[in-house]
Amino acid sequence: MSIVTKVVLVFAVCVCMVAINADDCQQVLTQLQPCMNYLKSGGSVSSDCCKGVATLNKAATTAAKKKQFCKCLQSEAKSYSVKSQYASSLPQQCKVNVAYPISYSFNCSSIH
Ligand SMILES: *[C@@H]1O[C@H](CO)[C@@H](O)[C@H](O)[C@H]1NC(C)=O
Repeated sequence: MSIVTKVVLVFAVCVCMVAINADDCQQVLTQLQPCMNYLKSGGSVSSDCCKGVATLNKAATTAAKKKQFCKCLQSEAKSYSVKSQYASSLPQQCKVNVAYPISYSFNCSSIH
């Protein structure tokens, strides 16, 4: 394999991984859209929001996915100024058992 081919391959893999990540974050964002009110200012959780939480939880079938969702949640929470106490209580509010804490300080890399 020539150097150029290798470089092209590595580049293609990187671009592809970024694309997958972006899609997953988009999915997280879409599913949690009905939760935004609650996540920012508390109050009651809508059933649409809980449906989204359950959908995401079901989609996180592998450790890699969970890690990815965890990272998406953290970066989205930051960019939408979500309050951490609401984010962390969301699974409980929806009675969905999420396998990892939803928290700014949780290290997503420790999921396995
Ligand atoms: C998170 O965990 C990984 C793997 O255990 C570790 O390498 C990394 O330094 C940790 N990051 C933080 C911010 O603690």
